Amino acid sequence: MDLQKRVVLRNCGRIDPDSIEEYIAHNGYQALGRAVTTLRPAEVIAMVKDSLLRGRGGAGFPTGLKWSLTAKIEADQKYIVCNADEGEPGTFKDRLIMEGDPHGVIEGMAIAGYAVGADQGIIYIRGEYQLSSERMKRAIQQATAYGLLGEGIFGSDFNFTIQVRSGAGAYVCGEETALLESLEGNRVEPRVKPPYPGVAGLWGKPTVVNNVETLANIPPIILNGPEWFRRIGTEKCPGTKVFTMLGDINNQGLIEVPMGITLREIVYGVGGGIPGGKGFKMAQTGGTSGGCLPAAFLDMPMDYDTLSKVGSALGSGAMLIIDDTHCVVDLLKSFMRFFCHESCGKCTPCREGTVRLYEIIQALAEGTATVTEFRLLKELSTTMQLSALCGLGQSAPNSLLTCLEYFAEEFQAHLNGRCPTGTCKNLSVKSDAV
Ligand SMILES: Cc1cc2nc3c(=O)[nH]c(=O)nc-3n(C[C@H](O)[C@H](O)[C@H](O)COP(=O)(O)O)c2cc1C
Ligand code: SF4
Repeated sequence: MDLQKRVVLRNCGRIDPDSIEEYIAHNGYQALGRAVTTLRPAEVIAMVKDSLLRGRGGAGFPTGLKWSLTAKIEADQKYIVCNADEGEPGTFKDRLIMEGDPHGVIEGMAIAGYAVGADQGIIYIRGEYQLSSERMKRAIQQATAYGLLGEGIFGSDFNFTIQVRSGAGAYVCGEETALLESLEGNRVEPRVKPPYPGVAGLWGKPTVVNNVETLANIPPIILNGPEWFRRIGTEKCPGTKVFTMLGDINNQGLIEVPMGITLREIVYGVGGGIPGGKGFKMAQTGGTSGGCLPAAFLDMPMDYDTLSKVGSALGSGAMLIIDDTHCVVDLLKSFMRFFCHESCGKCTPCREGTVRLYEIIQALAEGTATVTEFRLLKELSTTMQLSALCGLGQSAPNSLLTCLEYFAEEFQAHLNGRCPTGTCKNLSVKSDAV
């Protein structure tokens, strides 16, 4: 049985991404035509609300609600920003969506612009994504030449243009307000919210920031209707999710599956299991900001609400599978090093907290951590979750907290001078030292 379902990836690998004619031949730009010629903006928003689509950039905020908040504001200028920064380690879905079907993203942005009353769109693409950037630029040129972007789209009075901007090269650039600072040419640091970008965003104007995958879902929703969309996935979380699978898994790469699929179906069905007959130790869902789930969660449905209840996240859709030869403390050392490096330094809980977490984990790996230091890990993590200014610092301890809960015995072994997998070089493998 094929567990995959293509909605976002409907055209990827099937059409030539550099050909607008092939996109049009596969129902391309029909949804935009339908929206601007037969639907009022409020009706478009009602359809998106009715579909229950939630943002695929990480937080899972309802897309229709986000659009409606911006639509009702009177302003001389509004913007649609497509967030294609994709800095989460292990995540490459947006790159492949843009490379495989650039017009799907453009069409979604134009529909969003029509719905909220914006006439300018900006795609903020991670600097390293050269091919995505080239393909998006070429697609914008083609759509403009066909009159599908520009003035009087489909003979209506709707105008919409799109430009591509290159990301500034840090993980925090993907945080929506930091992204706006970057677009304004400033040092990339998140803003205090509220106000949210939907009210006061780019240059202080109402701005809808949506992820690539979110926008790519829009044309099929308008074309097939919200009921069709709600029949895919779960009741509260309809649609599909694009995941990037990596780590100790036979089939690595991009998959698209209905929301609510179980972890077991992903790992042993679509993923083809773990190489070398090794055992499943954990899956880190949602990228480095997500939590680590042991085998007891293999039958858990993958959706926003269920994962957040167990301390993890669906996040960007990165799925790191780890076999039972790896050491939890060693893994955490590399996750925590990442956050030390990427903290922008604006707020104290994250600037200081990420460094302290890393230091204690490193001491555990070297066998020098004290019980008092170990006990601080949880308190410090909770403080960061509650008080860091943006999602980076708030989610940095997620992997640590889940590991503390689900792999407690492995930490205890390290405190006793033992690394059960033999990964931490200073420690003994065999028996607990006294
Ligand atoms: C540190 C950090 C990095 C983020 N990186 C991205 C990113 O690369 N792409 C993205 O769409 N959202 C990212 N987000 C989430 C955005 O702030 C925002 O919620 C999202 O772009 C909204 O789009 P959506 O409603 O379509 O999900 C990031 C958030 C944080 C805290
Ligand atoms: S949480 Fe971290 S990344 Fe976010 S503002 Fe504070 S220091 Fe910067």
